[in-house]
Amino acid sequence: MAIPTYRDFPLLNSYVGQILEVFKANPDKTKAHKISTPIMESMTHNPEVLREIIRLNMAQPGFFNKFHYPAPSMQVVRNPYFDFVVNCWIPLPDKSSNVSTKALHHHGSMLLSTATAFGPGYEHWMLTFPKVVDRESELFHMDLIEAAPHYLHHVSFVDKYIVHVPMYISSLTLTYALWTNSRPTTWKDRLKAMPLMKRNSAALRKIGKSLGLTKALDLKLEEYLDFYPTEAGFKGVRNRDDVEFKRGPVSDYLPSIFHVIQKTGQSDLADEIAELVKNERDLKPLDRELALALVDDLKSGRVIESKLTEGLHYGFHHSNFSREAIELALKAQSRKPERALST
Ligand SMILES: [Fe+2]
Repeated sequence: MAIPTYRDFPLLNSYVGQILEVFKANPDKTKAHKISTPIMESMTHNPEVLREIIRLNMAQPGFFNKFHYPAPSMQVVRNPYFDFVVNCWIPLPDKSSNVSTKALHHHGSMLLSTATAFGPGYEHWMLTFPKVVDRESELFHMDLIEAAPHYLHHVSFVDKYIVHVPMYISSLTLTYALWTNSRPTTWKDRLKAMPLMKRNSAALRKIGKSLGLTKALDLKLEEYLDFYPTEAGFKGVRNRDDVEFKRGPVSDYLPSIFHVIQKTGQSDLADEIAELVKNERDLKPLDRELALALVDDLKSGRVIESKLTEGLHYGFHHSNFSREAIELALKAQSRKPERALST
């Protein structure tokens, strides 16, 4: 049986088609994002869109057998013009919302439109592009653009090189994320959207680096992408691996993804899910048992809690900090530089 794509779902086919038309007609990507904003917003007002996205994803082989980052994602489409994914923001076990979900970071020349489709939405912090204060101590200066709620149905645009971070949410939140680069689509984008390129992007970055192709292919290699607040200001992280989360086990992913399915009102898909879990080829016996127990929870209406693990998904000083820590770093910058540097 053919694996479904977004085209097999009427609403997704229509919305993705509309966004694609906008991007084909507007080589200026910033303009295309702007024109797509009402389409993104309209998607968040239709819960049936979310159901189609969940059904599309659960029908993909391997969906119930994933290692996951703190915010698991579901893909809708990747084409030469854009990537469209859904980010599932899973709450911390204590539901604390005064913790950042990751390090402060920017995505180089990428542009992002994000729309809150379910849940209360997170508080996001956006800061200006970092200027080097002291190369040796890796200290950077950035100003606050805004700290504001990304509430339900709100669409936010994150411009290239803008530093940002979402804070944790007290309750499950889903966002639709429309990713593009910032230059007109060319042959390189068509090449990168090919399935082979998608599967091997890490290997290609290495090959691209050695061949000097990374710039041509836009494979992000900016030196400093991540930052964290200190009492002296903001420190850059040279090596992204130092702040990148490791993927957690399938036994965490399953409760979290079933939490998403239950909380968004898709429990009636339980029988369909049971079949898919049975056909999930490489699922380990214990994980399969867990998945089928969660299917039973869906059927009986037992509440399924999401699961994040300390030391894997959260609990890292440079990635999970409070808003007061960011404010302290912002204040430290307004002091005289010599004093800031000596702290
Ligand atoms: Fe980001």
